[in-house]
Amino acid sequence: MKARLEELGPQYTSALQNHVDNPSEAVLHRAYQLGRKALDDELGVLEMAFLYHAAILKLLSAARTPGQSARLLKVAESFFIESLAPFEMTHRAVRDANRALRQLNEKLEEEAKRIATSLHEETGQFLACTYLALDEIRRDLPARYRGHLQKVRDLLEQIAEHLRQLSHELRPTVLDDYGLVPALEFLAGGISKRSKLKITVEGAPNGRFPASVETAIYRIVAEALTNVSKHARASRVKVRLRQQARTVHCWITDNGIGFDNRPARTKDKHRGLGLTGIRQRLDAMGGTFQIESERGHGSQIHISIPLER
Ligand SMILES: Nc1ncnc2c1ncn2[C@@H]1O[C@H](COP(=O)(O)OP(=O)(O)OP(=O)(O)O)[C@@H](O)[C@H]1O
Ligand SMILES: [Mg+2]
Repeated sequence: MKARLEELGPQYTSALQNHVDNPSEAVLHRAYQLGRKALDDELGVLEMAFLYHAAILKLLSAARTPGQSARLLKVAESFFIESLAPFEMTHRAVRDANRALRQLNEKLEEEAKRIATSLHEETGQFLACTYLALDEIRRDLPARYRGHLQKVRDLLEQIAEHLRQLSHELRPTVLDDYGLVPALEFLAGGISKRSKLKITVEGAPNGRFPASVETAIYRIVAEALTNVSKHARASRVKVRLRQQARTVHCWITDNGIGFDNRPARTKDKHRGLGLTGIRQRLDAMGGTFQIESERGHGSQIHISIPLER
């Protein structure tokens, strides 16, 4: 960063000098370009303030009268503002993208609700019809074949139970009706049954959180637990929830093989969407996301979401 600042410093000072000597649209455009370059170089507004400060000090030291100094400061102001324009535009774009992402998440939730209801109710009705048809066949069958049919019935019941579990995980009514901790316990129960993982859920937040926060945490924990069951080769996972002041924290800790989450290591083409989705969901809500993991030493995901925005 220091090298980039050192490179930009003289360019900024000389462009500002040009602007002071002969203010024009073309020179102002140069301020914009310098701001753009700083942004591309991953410098921030603080570095821009630093560049401006260093440049103006240099130019002020050459001013001979208080009048000249006053004029310099006045003219330089528009240059500084123009050099910050790319940052302002990016800030607005990020805000718009976050708003769009929040709306997209709401749409996805509605869609998940629709699929869950259809999975639950419609497949339930089809299965009920199938049981009736099987019962009719059973009545007409010689007794020695009835045992085979019972096996089919048992299997169908297992499928029905599985579908019921999936539809509740997709949009758990328990989340709407009872809140986050019971919903996470329900989710953990389903995943435990399928994966043999021992999952504990700890935390008794005071009352309910806004629906958007509860849904986000539920989705994030669901993805994190799915990841543990798919990738971690762990035997235990702990989900811990805690409210500190006006922020909700959640930690998901496993005792599995761990992983290297540095971007350079995960740049392959088949990168999954789960962790990216978590990050984007949290960005849109002003939350944070950290992974602590070391190969062979398990992983811990820590998320936090502010309750007021
Ligand atoms: N708890 C974990 N233990 C070990 N490795 C993990 C864990 N969580 C994630 N990973 C690693 O990080 C990678 C990225 O996870 P991510 O959820 O983004 O993608 P994915 O699970 O592979 O695919 P998708 O979520 O799109 O189905 C995984 O492929 C896995 O290698
Ligand atoms: Mg995943």
